[in-house]
Amino acid sequence: FPLKEFNTFGIAAFAESFVSVSSENELRDVLSEHKSAKKFILGGGSNMLLTQDIEALVIHINLKGKRIIHEDENYVLIEAMAGENWHEFVLWTIDQDFGGIENMSLIPGNVGTTPIQNIGAYGAEIKDTFVSCEAMEITSGNSRKFTKEECDFGYRESIFKHREKDKYIIISVVFKLTKHNHKINTGYGDIQKELEKTGISEPTLKDVSNAVIAIRKSKLPDPKELGNSGSFFKNPIVPISTYQKAVADYPEMPHYKVSETEVKVPAGWLIEQAGYKGKRIGDAGVHKNQALVLVNYGNATGQEILALSREVQQAVFDKFGIGIEAEVNVI
Ligand code: EPU
Repeated sequence: FPLKEFNTFGIAAFAESFVSVSSENELRDVLSEHKSAKKFILGGGSNMLLTQDIEALVIHINLKGKRIIHEDENYVLIEAMAGENWHEFVLWTIDQDFGGIENMSLIPGNVGTTPIQNIGAYGAEIKDTFVSCEAMEITSGNSRKFTKEECDFGYRESIFKHREKDKYIIISVVFKLTKHNHKINTGYGDIQKELEKTGISEPTLKDVSNAVIAIRKSKLPDPKELGNSGSFFKNPIVPISTYQKAVADYPEMPHYKVSETEVKVPAGWLIEQAGYKGKRIGDAGVHKNQALVLVNYGNATGQEILALSREVQQAVFDKFGIGIEAEVNVI
């Protein structure tokens, strides 16, 4: 079964077999019918690099729907099913005037995968509005709830990438959003600048969303036009001593303080300085506007993208003594 349409990198890999499920019961049935089969869970396919065919039953999570499960004067709890497209969900919340996830407009992928890597952009992360998620254990078909604390969120991290890796399928996620007194957050990066361009001084949720969309479109390639998985690497968090050593040679190096002992350095900057921004090898490339993003110009294989990613890692390490690790799941 061809997977090209099911991964935003547009890699032409194949699955041994494939089933798309659109309800929780259907999913439970598939799991029990294929108890001994190797399984691979597929959501929006926006955060993975397929470097080989998948010798397993691919289960595509296509559960749809969203509903308000509770509201009071100030807040609303919304449950969204895992297969909902994330950006469409964000736009829907904005239309209802529910605040909290507008800064994460236009992130590719589905609702169900957002907690796995605690997606984030422009000063907001899933963990800020996440209440809980419902997940099905793959071996038993039993569902359970994970609270925010249990998810153990970190920067692009959660329990689903560590202790519970490959054990659960996320069914739905509950978010707590504001109904008024929205905490408009324009502090990150270029949002303020983008709003000023349009002369907006008291931005609404929609204005913030539009600003984020404009910034993202100017830097990040649209997967429909150019295959990619967003940031390929995480921004490295390094001990201050490592940073000080590097900054002595490269005084321009940007950094953000994360604790008393560590700083985060933008990997995009490191990659650009290492000379890789816009570089292309065959159909695999480093994006010309945002060096953190690797792209598929058409017919790159996963192996070719992976080889380029390793070359980039090596070049950054050689120049700065800083290791950068993949954010994308390499399969
Ligand atoms: N930079 C460069 N050259 C580049 C890219 C970036 O010098 O080619 C510099 C920028 O000038 C800026 C700094 O690096 O000083 C940070 O750049 P930017 O604000 O574009 O964000 P980022 O750190 O590169 C992260 C997320 C993105 C998210 C943006 C905005 C990670 C791994 N990536 O990128 O998330 O959209 O911040 O919040 O944390 C994703 O995860 O797929 C993703 C796109």
